[in-house]
Amino acid sequence: MDPTSGATESLWMDTVEPVSYPPLTDDARTHVCVIGAGIAGITTAYLLARAGKAVVVIDNGPVGGGQTGRTTAHISNALDDRYSQIAKLFGDDGARRAAESHTAAIQRIEAIAELEDIDCDFERLDGFLFLHEGGKREILDDELEATHLAGLADTGLFARAPLDSFDTGVALRFPRQAQFHPLKYLNGLARAITRDGGRIYCGTRAKDIEDGVPCKVTTADGHTITAEDVVVATNSPVNDWMVMHTKQAPYRTYVVGLRVPAGSIPHMLLWDTGDPYHYVRVHPADRPGADYEVLIVGGEDHKTGQAQNTDERFTRLENWARQRFPMAQDVIYRWSGQVLEPVDAMAFIGKNPGSDEHVYIATGDSGNGITHGTVAGILLTDLITGTENPWADLYDPSRITFRSATDYARENLNVAEQYSTWITPGDVGSVEEIPNDSGAVIRRGMRKIAVYRDASGNISKCSAVCTHLYCIVDWNDTEKTWDCPCHGSRFDPYGKVVNGPAITDLEALPD
Ligand SMILES: Cc1cc2nc3c(=O)[nH]c(=O)nc-3n(C[C@H](O)[C@H](O)[C@H](O)COP(=O)(O)OP(=O)(O)OC[C@H]3O[C@@H](n4cnc5c(N)ncnc54)[C@H](O)[C@@H]3O)c2cc1C
Ligand code: FES
Repeated sequence: MDPTSGATESLWMDTVEPVSYPPLTDDARTHVCVIGAGIAGITTAYLLARAGKAVVVIDNGPVGGGQTGRTTAHISNALDDRYSQIAKLFGDDGARRAAESHTAAIQRIEAIAELEDIDCDFERLDGFLFLHEGGKREILDDELEATHLAGLADTGLFARAPLDSFDTGVALRFPRQAQFHPLKYLNGLARAITRDGGRIYCGTRAKDIEDGVPCKVTTADGHTITAEDVVVATNSPVNDWMVMHTKQAPYRTYVVGLRVPAGSIPHMLLWDTGDPYHYVRVHPADRPGADYEVLIVGGEDHKTGQAQNTDERFTRLENWARQRFPMAQDVIYRWSGQVLEPVDAMAFIGKNPGSDEHVYIATGDSGNGITHGTVAGILLTDLITGTENPWADLYDPSRITFRSATDYARENLNVAEQYSTWITPGDVGSVEEIPNDSGAVIRRGMRKIAVYRDASGNISKCSAVCTHLYCIVDWNDTEKTWDCPCHGSRFDPYGKVVNGPAITDLEALPD
């Protein structure tokens, strides 16, 4: 298993060869070291290189091996948390800047794809927000008004989304949204970075990040990158131990891809208003001569490490899709991924909170991580090059949004409750009860042990104590990973860290 992935494979991973660069084998010096080669890190590195900065990008795995390889890539200014909510939290001016920044991100992706001649299936299309079963019409009325106040003058209510297969009922249209193939786009940007003199090192994990003049990034292999500035774009920041992880919460989200006859569903983005909500789009099959397309349906989110029977979520998504799209044939993809939900709806992009002067972060992507990642590229490039940017305080990671205090308290209470698993029994009583290619936590006296039995029956054991802030990890049978219910760190079956905030592996234990 790739260190930044999981066991399932997305449509994007299946249709594009991962682009990887050799690891860093020596010390390096640069203007800016970017950690993480997802949409946030790669866009930032690209724009910095265009601005004349020397950049070094490092990533644990290949380019796009994190959540960007698992997205559904709606490129949208229809924000998850809704403008009505954003206006309550940040005022009308904040909602306006949110709309402006996400609209600018869509335009920037389009402009970059054109300028760099990146064939990434970029397509402009409309998006429609419609009511979930039992949803009240006022949700859409309020959102219509809020989008107009936020400056999105072209949104409007329609009797239904323009689909034949099912009646969405009244729907709020967001015009000029977009979609693309995220890995084709990232790979094109990576090529442009290296063309512009930037260096990318894959298979290179940041182990220690030190602010200063200069900053120092130490890799797991013991090499040092000396840089004037560092950008931590690791999705969940691996440089921050506590502060940022109290402001956002990790959620798993699920996707099915069903084969549909080519042209049978008009291309558009769809979201319902449920909580969790469903998100839908169609993508070409990406196979020469194929007469089908892929209907992509996502949803069924839950807090990371806090749900069993994750596979049932795929079945529920499939049923939901089949009821609405009867032309759907077989399920050809099933994958899941992780999103970080900020307690106050907006991503955190800017200087790392505390005393750091030259370390920047981009996190709190929510379900709008493609545009948030692109906003990060634009904003961080401005901050690093000393250019004023009107979005800076909206995304400032140090901000305190008093109006989100209830969500803040709820999420952190939930984290506190997870520590109770230190005293509960194990998932199973003995190693013998664990089926092949599966894992379970067992109790041995005071210890909790994460035990994995591989497909051939071989056993490996590590401590079940997360190396971030010591919660007990939980087995994710869909992705074959150990997931931490507190702040979303994830580890492969053998305890190797897959996802921050943890930066070190689970402690390996003898058999
Ligand atoms: C199923 C799903 C559907 C989604 N749908 C949408 C959508 O339709 N529209 C939308 O806008 N957003 C969507 N999102 C969200 C969006 O895809 C993500 O927010 C976004 O891709 C995150 O990009 P990133 O660059 O922050 O992180 P990532 O893509 O995860 O990149 C972070 C990188 O950092 C690397 N890394 C981590 N730790 C280290 C370390 N210590 N050293 C070196 N490298 C490290 C990882 O290997 C990884 O490659 C979705 C997400 C999921 C999971
Ligand atoms: S991720 Fe914070 S304790 Fe595990």
